[in-house]
Amino acid sequence: MKTQVAIVGAGPAGLLLGHLLRAEGLDVVLVERASPDYVLGRIRAGVLERTTTDLMDRLGLGARMHAEGLPHDGFHLADGERLIRIDIAALTGRQVMVYGQTELTRDLMAAAPERGLEILYDAADVALHDVEGDAPYLTYRKDGSDRRIDCDFICGCDGYHGPSRQAIPPSVGTAFEKVYPFGWLGILADVAPCNHELIYANHARGFALASMRSETRSRYYIQVPLDEKVEDWPDERLWDELAVRLGPEAAAHMARGPALEKSIAPLRSFVFEPMRHGRLLLAGDSAHIVPPTGAKGLNLAASDVAYLSEALVAYYRRNDRDAVAGYSSRALARVWKAERFSWQLTRLMHRFPDNDAFDRRMQLADLDYIASSTAAQTSIAENYVGLPL
Ligand code: APR
Ligand code: PHB
Repeated sequence: MKTQVAIVGAGPAGLLLGHLLRAEGLDVVLVERASPDYVLGRIRAGVLERTTTDLMDRLGLGARMHAEGLPHDGFHLADGERLIRIDIAALTGRQVMVYGQTELTRDLMAAAPERGLEILYDAADVALHDVEGDAPYLTYRKDGSDRRIDCDFICGCDGYHGPSRQAIPPSVGTAFEKVYPFGWLGILADVAPCNHELIYANHARGFALASMRSETRSRYYIQVPLDEKVEDWPDERLWDELAVRLGPEAAAHMARGPALEKSIAPLRSFVFEPMRHGRLLLAGDSAHIVPPTGAKGLNLAASDVAYLSEALVAYYRRNDRDAVAGYSSRALARVWKAERFSWQLTRLMHRFPDNDAFDRRMQLADLDYIASSTAAQTSIAENYVGLPL
């Protein structure tokens, strides 16, 4: 098979990129290791920046998002005694959209056939070849036979564990990583949210987050030690802990119900540089990971593919090779600022095992300053809604 752009991975990054390139008439093929059900079964967050919703609108794929999503004008920080509202709409003129990222993935997958976006699922042993030359190619196994795709570019949208990043020689690439000494235990339940907006809570016992998927389905998280087991957290124990950490105002409105899903995820900050090597270009989790505190994961993938699609279209339309050459530095500039915000909010809101009494006072003083400062709230708000492309 021959195509212009071969994309490894059909998660949010690969799907968004594929649709953007198809919309511009480029030949694209996505090669996905798993089945469609597996891709849809991945646990994902639920906040979309305007950058991401704009891409869906540009593709004409935002109808269900606007019909079912919840536009939010603000969110809350809690310090154990009060709720501090960050009025993102008043401070930045922007909202965020609360819409399950799984639903966004579903919308992108559903539109692929009608848009002529070819996705090869259940592709095993995907390997990248000759990415440093002008004629890279992929090999993979499907339905028992070995196959090859010759292309002009390979876009690695295969997540943190995919092969694309590994195709960049260690002498060229540099990884930056921070692993946090705790994880998030999440619960999904068909109960009404305790608040109409999200609440990020810093409690002496640890972090908690009250989020939602709709007005009848809630998503909550608590910080737990890395060695915690889900089976040690029956629903009632988790609801009790959430009530304590979110504080009395939220607890008074917190409905309880059986877990539809309950799991623990580790937190890390990770960036790989460069995001381009020869004809291989990385986007999304293949190049960077953020702790979920700032809800940046999918939104960073969206800005990556906005830059990447622009660069590839410039190459094919105007033979502009500079845009492709400049992709990595352009994407990394936004990636690092989102990494900074996610790391800063994670440090502010979580209880670190090696934190002492002074560190705790610094967190509370920081929250007290934010409560009293429009400048501090504006800084948080403009990062939360997403910095400009
Ligand atoms: N061959 C082909 N496909 C692969 C391979 C491989 N060897 N390895 C991984 N993949 C596929 C995975 O099966 C997955 O569908 O690549 C896809 C990567 O998708 P994600 O891990 O979701 O990463 P990305 O698309 O970058 O998503 C960005 O969206 O919801 C958020 O939290 C999520 O931060 C993440 C963000
Ligand atoms: C979620 O709803 O899953 C969610 C929301 C905001 C975050 C992280 C996760 O920062």
